[in-house]
Amino acid sequence: MYDLQGKVAIITGGASGIGAAMVRLFSGLGASITIGDIQDHLGEALALELGDKVRFSRLDVTQSEDWQRAIADTEDAFGPVNVLVNNAGHPGYQRTVADLTQEEFRHVFAVNQEGVFLGMKYVLASMGRAGGGSIVNNSSAWGLVGAANNLDYCATKWAITGMSKAAAVELAPTNIRVNSVHPGLVLTPMVEANLKMLGASAEPFISRMPLNRGARPEEIANVFAFLASDASSFVTGLAFAADGGLTAQ
Ligand SMILES: NC(=O)c1ccc[n+]([C@@H]2O[C@H](COP(=O)([O-])OP(=O)(O)OC[C@H]3O[C@@H](n4cnc5c(N)ncnc54)[C@H](O)[C@@H]3O)[C@@H](O)[C@H]2O)c1
Repeated sequence: MYDLQGKVAIITGGASGIGAAMVRLFSGLGASITIGDIQDHLGEALALELGDKVRFSRLDVTQSEDWQRAIADTEDAFGPVNVLVNNAGHPGYQRTVADLTQEEFRHVFAVNQEGVFLGMKYVLASMGRAGGGSIVNNSSAWGLVGAANNLDYCATKWAITGMSKAAAVELAPTNIRVNSVHPGLVLTPMVEANLKMLGASAEPFISRMPLNRGARPEEIANVFAFLASDASSFVTGLAFAADGGLTAQ
């Protein structure tokens, strides 16, 4: 597995699901970590469990002040930030184009798209002091193809794909790499809540994936560890599908 000794990471949405799996994995690989999330109770409990090199910061990714405070506090605690994982996300409202409201669209935009932009914007100064770094943005398979009743989610996840490539090109001279990851179905609280809300089963999604199963959060966390680590030192601007073959078809 990859070496993350000396890495100072902020992982948004780190209190639950894929983010929590990343926090556990990165911690085991030697990174110092700030969990940035709005679920204080879960985030604090995870930080407490993992010890002194993991801390929790209440970070609503839509709020500039939260970003600035979380980055400053991380730098005070562990040194300049050299890994940012923009993982926090909203699942979208699962409505038809006709039924989706402007307010709903704007809310998903704020979390999934603006939140990723703000993270990249505010971390740059700290990464500059670190001499460079790796930004890994969690998009989705729905950031590579379209899906019915998912216009809000698809719009923002495609935006992450584009923002990651634009930033990768711009930031390469400063030794900052930027990549996006595109999971297929991952069995997490977000997915379970969504299926429950829709009264649906995961089976129709799973049957579309050649590997014919949902991913465990740990399998997706491995991809993030690779992109955060120096093992991927020549990889930037990549849209890395980890989707059981869904978008290969
Ligand atoms: N689970 C999947 O099948 C799947 C597939 C593709 C992409 N993704 C993406 O993976 C990421 C993680 O999703 P998950 O499935 O682990 O879901 P999850 O619900 O388990 O975790 C999401 C986390 O983001 C946090 N969050 C939400 N809004 C926030 C905000 N404004 N500021 C800070 N934190 C906020 C939540 O509190 C939660 O802890 C999301 O970006 C999601 O779109 C998930």
